[in-house]
Amino acid sequence: MADEITRNLGMELVRATEAGALAAARWMGRGDKNAADGAAVNALRHVLGSVDMHGVVVIGEGEKDEAPMLYIGEEIGNGHSPDVDIAVDPIDGTRLTALGLPGAIAVVAAAPCGTLYGAPPGIYYMEKLAVGPDAVGVIDITQSIKWNIQALARHKGCAPSDITAIILDRPRHAAMIGEIREAGARVKIIGDGDVAAAIAAATPDTAVDIPIGIGGAPEAVLAAAAIRCIGGEMQCRLYPRNEQERWQVEGLGVDIHQVLRTEDLVRSDDVYFAATGITDGDLVRGVQFYSDGATTHSLIMRGKTGTVRRMEAHHRWKKLAMYSSLAAAPVEVPLASV
Ligand code: FBP
Repeated sequence: MADEITRNLGMELVRATEAGALAAARWMGRGDKNAADGAAVNALRHVLGSVDMHGVVVIGEGEKDEAPMLYIGEEIGNGHSPDVDIAVDPIDGTRLTALGLPGAIAVVAAAPCGTLYGAPPGIYYMEKLAVGPDAVGVIDITQSIKWNIQALARHKGCAPSDITAIILDRPRHAAMIGEIREAGARVKIIGDGDVAAAIAAATPDTAVDIPIGIGGAPEAVLAAAAIRCIGGEMQCRLYPRNEQERWQVEGLGVDIHQVLRTEDLVRSDDVYFAATGITDGDLVRGVQFYSDGATTHSLIMRGKTGTVRRMEAHHRWKKLAMYSSLAAAPVEVPLASV
């Protein structure tokens, strides 16, 4: 049984997402996804390594043979208590970053050991639906999109045309987008980045109300970590892309029809979440560089208390050795020290 986490780990995780975002943002619009991702992984992992925790990456860059850093099973942190699961996406929206488009963020979540959901091997996608704290109990992923939009509009006391759904621009979503339109709702179609989209929808007073559609399974767990802190609701179902994936998952005895709720994806209230904007988005602003430093905008959340903090940080290259490699336009110098 993991130790109780007695401090706000989110305040430490945010230093890692800031470092990841600063490193990635140097590659904004330069058309090189891999370089942006590599820079973010390197910076974020460096700072996570210094956090007082014994973390194990349960959601990361992939299996060890395909990812040298932040791979599933990698131990991270300085090895001290608490024992935590780490879910990390150094860039959600690598293509957005490479093209200089809005909505890319660096994200980390931590929760007591064994409490973050791991999708069965061989399945990469989930169908997702989420709402904020004002609409818990209203959505039902087993019902149609039209049903959900109508239920949400009824609950909010507005017309379906006042509801804005957000969905990834993918051929697999053509019919869903048609259904949203038929239900009378507005649609925001985004190129990538469904973690920020789901969190924005679950955050009161944003321009979007409900994320709809199929996206990455790891991204669902990251979004659920934030939504659990906010007090909203997420519902997901595993989405096999083809018969082979379906057989593989069913062969493991997994029920692909099971509705995975926020509490199934993140099985503890003692969850911590941090995200920093790389490019401007609905949720947070992106990195702004100036001659001797940069400004970052982050979100820090804690499940136990439900606290959501917004943090604007001004980083000064001269004062911080670890930022020296981020001061100039793309460099590949490894980060020296924290
Ligand atoms: P990456 O930045 O890691 O490539 O993820 C971007 C993303 O849009 C996620 O937000 C989303 O969950 C997933 O890709 C969707 O996958 P796909 O691009 O295969 O439809």
